[in-house]
Amino acid sequence: MQDDIERTLLSPDEIAQRLDTLADQITRDIEAATGLSDPDHPHNTLTIVPIMTGSIIFVADLVRRLPLRTRIYPMSASSYPGTATASQGVTLSRVDDRVPEELGGQHILLIDDILDSGSTLRKVTAEIERRGPDTLHTCVLLRKQRDQAMSFPIDYVAFDIPDAFVVGYGLDYDDQYRNLPGIVTLRPEVVQ
Ligand code: IMP
Ligand code: MG
Repeated sequence: MQDDIERTLLSPDEIAQRLDTLADQITRDIEAATGLSDPDHPHNTLTIVPIMTGSIIFVADLVRRLPLRTRIYPMSASSYPGTATASQGVTLSRVDDRVPEELGGQHILLIDDILDSGSTLRKVTAEIERRGPDTLHTCVLLRKQRDQAMSFPIDYVAFDIPDAFVVGYGLDYDDQYRNLPGIVTLRPEVVQ
């Protein structure tokens, strides 16, 4: 697996350091916007909605840095089936959707691995908004430096990266490489 790596864009240490500051910022903002730290608040739980599967490692590391009462309701979305390295159009799987139909009174933090064309987040955001949460914040680990991604409205971005296909830290190629601890590009021979 190591032989397939072309270049490391983000090391595990760089990711960990950035997550410390990002988690502080998210905690402060969400407390201020929602009153989540107020014990008398009737809805003092933050509902985290990770988009599976790419966000699993990011979410695991981020939630442990949030000193807030949280619940986690994963949602499935897929746009790069198998060996595709360009978006194939989004299909949202409702099978593992644990998000309640009615979100009145709830505060949602939607988390994805990467913002590329924006079609995944657009679709999932619309679906969450339809269910009527009190607040909705959106967060991605990575944003590609291309117009569609840079102009997409989003609350939190951990890193802006070049417009290249990347894997590791949850992101896959053909469902592999998610366990690489950093964000890397693959050698061209590996990605046809
Ligand atoms: P979008 O819908 O085009 O914004 O793409 C977002 C989704 O595509 C992400 O949730 C990823 O699952 C996948 N994706 C986009 N770019 C990459 C990449 O460089 N590597 C791996 N997966 C990617
Ligand atoms: Mg994804």
